Amino acid sequence: MSAPSTTLQGTPRHVAIIMDGNGRWAARRRRPRMIGHRAGARAVNLCIDFCLERGVGALTLFAFSSENWGRPADEVGALMKLFLNALDREVDELHRRGVRVRFIGERGRFDAGIVARMDAAERLTADNAGLALSIAASYGGRQDIAAAARALAVEVAEGRMRPQDIDETAMARHMALADLPPPDLFIRTGGDLRISNFLLWQLAYTELWFTDLLWPDLDAATLQRAFDDFAARERRFGLTGGQVASEPTTDTNAP
Ligand code: IPE
Ligand code: IPE
Ligand code: MG
Repeated sequence: MSAPSTTLQGTPRHVAIIMDGNGRWAARRRRPRMIGHRAGARAVNLCIDFCLERGVGALTLFAFSSENWGRPADEVGALMKLFLNALDREVDELHRRGVRVRFIGERGRFDAGIVARMDAAERLTADNAGLALSIAASYGGRQDIAAAARALAVEVAEGRMRPQDIDETAMARHMALADLPPPDLFIRTGGDLRISNFLLWQLAYTELWFTDLLWPDLDAATLQRAFDDFAARERRFGLTGGQVASEPTTDTNAP
């Protein structure tokens, strides 16, 4: 029999979510996929509200992956329009609520109009101390790791860094979200049990939670279930149960 855990988790400091299932939500209603993406926008707001109410420090949402550019042109085009409208509609309200917005991913692949709105949203909300909301758009975990390796290579080439000094801490410094603690809780809707090139580096010791619910159907009760399950987990970070029972532990890559 294992000893009762004395290291139960509280509220996650950082939640990372793959918002999946919009297309299937629409297909079940015999509607175009885009209707599902539009319905998904409501779930984004619900999720932000939930995190604000619970005092979560950081929320990272996977909105569009590097690989999603390969979808049919009409779907990509419609998603871009939706993205632009959402930025126009939501940013002022997010600012009013103290949310700090930022985007991670390859920004250069978006149209100038979207890039300008992303930049403006980040500038407007930069000094907010509330929820740190990161939107992963044109984001890929492999690309994130490659970019960090590239940045370190430049430091070496310029003589600011020695190859033998490249370690996990140096890599972590150059990864997206470097200033935040790594995600405590990962949630994926839509029923698939995979990471799909989301935050590969940052999720090393994240607690994973999956639901069959499709993203547009997300509700507060489901998020609460994820938080409750998280709270009941014992995180060991490679140590023994006995060790973590006597001393609280964290991810060694936490800033
Ligand atoms: C997630 O929903 C949104 C994006 C990837 C942009 P999907 O569009 O992947 O929905 P399914 O997985 O096809 O149902
Ligand atoms: C992951 O969902 C990306 C986003 C939710 C933005 P996908 O629908 O692209 O993932 P796969 O293709 O099912 O792995
Ligand atoms: Mg999908």
